[in-house]
Amino acid sequence: MNRFLFPRWVNKFLLVLGVMILGGGAYAGAVFMGATDPKTLNVGYQPVQPIPFSHKIHAGQLKMDCRYCHTSVEKSAHASVPPTSTCINCHSPLEKATGTPLLSAVHPTSPKLKALHDSWATGDSVPWVKIHRLPDFVYFNHSVHVNRGVSCVTCHGRIDKMDEVHQAKDLSMTWCVDCHRHPEAHLRPVEFITKLDWAPEDGKAAELGAQLKKEKNINPLTNCAVCHR
Ligand code: HEC
Ligand code: HEC
Ligand code: HEC
Ligand code: HEC
Ligand code: HEC
Repeated sequence: MNRFLFPRWVNKFLLVLGVMILGGGAYAGAVFMGATDPKTLNVGYQPVQPIPFSHKIHAGQLKMDCRYCHTSVEKSAHASVPPTSTCINCHSPLEKATGTPLLSAVHPTSPKLKALHDSWATGDSVPWVKIHRLPDFVYFNHSVHVNRGVSCVTCHGRIDKMDEVHQAKDLSMTWCVDCHRHPEAHLRPVEFITKLDWAPEDGKAAELGAQLKKEKNINPLTNCAVCHR
């Protein structure tokens, strides 16, 4: 009786299968670790920053628009954090040659701005600590939200009242999907997306939301591939 021999390609197949199992395990592990990383779901997460930059002063008191610093928020997936040069527009250090401040310099010798002035001198960027962080397996995009009338305040809270930024919402999947199912209450005319204290007229919120949704045909998707690609 002939012994049954597996054809040769089976060896290759077993190798591929092995890689798939190992790879799949590692993938599931990575997904699990990402999903349970305390930093991703951490409401209130508030790391210490290298410079005590205050949104309460700049966005609140001085009323600077968010987009002066977060320039890419309407154009791309990520909201950029400003480079040192943006701050130097107002906070240039004393001039090396003369030891005098430029006319536009605010607090040119403040110790609170030391790390900024060091960064300007060396060309290294300020090592800002990232606060909001979704796991890598989630796709998020700022521009699709802000251009449809979802304000920064809905997802980040009253940044203009924070001396130090903290994470206001848990950024969980339920949080995303709940709004995708019923976005009405969170829509506003796009000209007010960075006006964090904007509110619709008393009692008009539901009506306005429904109207904006209909007019602009806003229908956020909820199938898995929208956020997990
Ligand atoms: C003068 C520049 C400036 C302005 C204006 C400004 N920001 Fe920022 N923003 C920064 C800098 C610098 C950081 C990084 C340091 C920090 O977290 O405080 C930051 C961080 C943030 C973060 C946290 C980013 C992360 O790491 O997850 C959010 C959210 C944010 N800003 C939202 C806003 C909103 C909303 C406005 C408008 C109300 C605004 N910012 C106005 C400079 C600015
Ligand atoms: C449009 C001008 C402008 C820009 C741009 C600007 N600031 Fe300021 N900043 C000010 C003013 C004005 C004050 C002073 C407010 C006061 O003293 O009441 C200030 C205060 C500060 C202080 C407090 C300094 C102290 O000694 O009390 C820090 C720190 C600071 N800014 C950091 C930054 C950083 C970092 C950036 C860039 C992300 C930045 N600023 C961008 C205008 C600006
Ligand atoms: C629909 C919710 C939502 C809206 C609206 C929103 N953000 Fe964010 N923001 C997020 C999430 C989620 C993250 C974390 C993204 C990541 O980790 O990939 C984030 C991260 C950031 C960061 C850190 C850099 C980055 O892109 O990861 C900054 C700065 C920021 N947002 C500023 C803003 C500003 C300014 C506005 C308004 C003009 C705004 N955001 C509107 C949800 C939102
Ligand atoms: C407060 C409401 C709100 C929250 C919270 C929110 N979204 Fe959205 N999302 C929207 C709206 C509105 C749109 C635009 C839909 C359209 O253009 O028809 C959108 C669109 C998107 C799109 C583009 C695909 C599409 O549906 O058109 C992606 C991707 C997305 N959101 C991911 C996320 C993720 C990931 C989170 C959570 C981290 C999140 N969103 C949280 C309201 C929200
Ligand atoms: C609107 C965006 C969005 C949609 C749609 C979405 N997810 Fe998610 N999902 C997320 C976000 C954000 C997280 C990460 C939450 C966190 O940090 O734990 C996540 C996490 C997960 C996780 C990791 C475990 C967990 O719960 O944290 C799994 C598994 C998952 N999603 C499966 C799915 C499946 C299956 C679907 C379709 C039925 C789906 N997702 C649709 C945004 C979305």
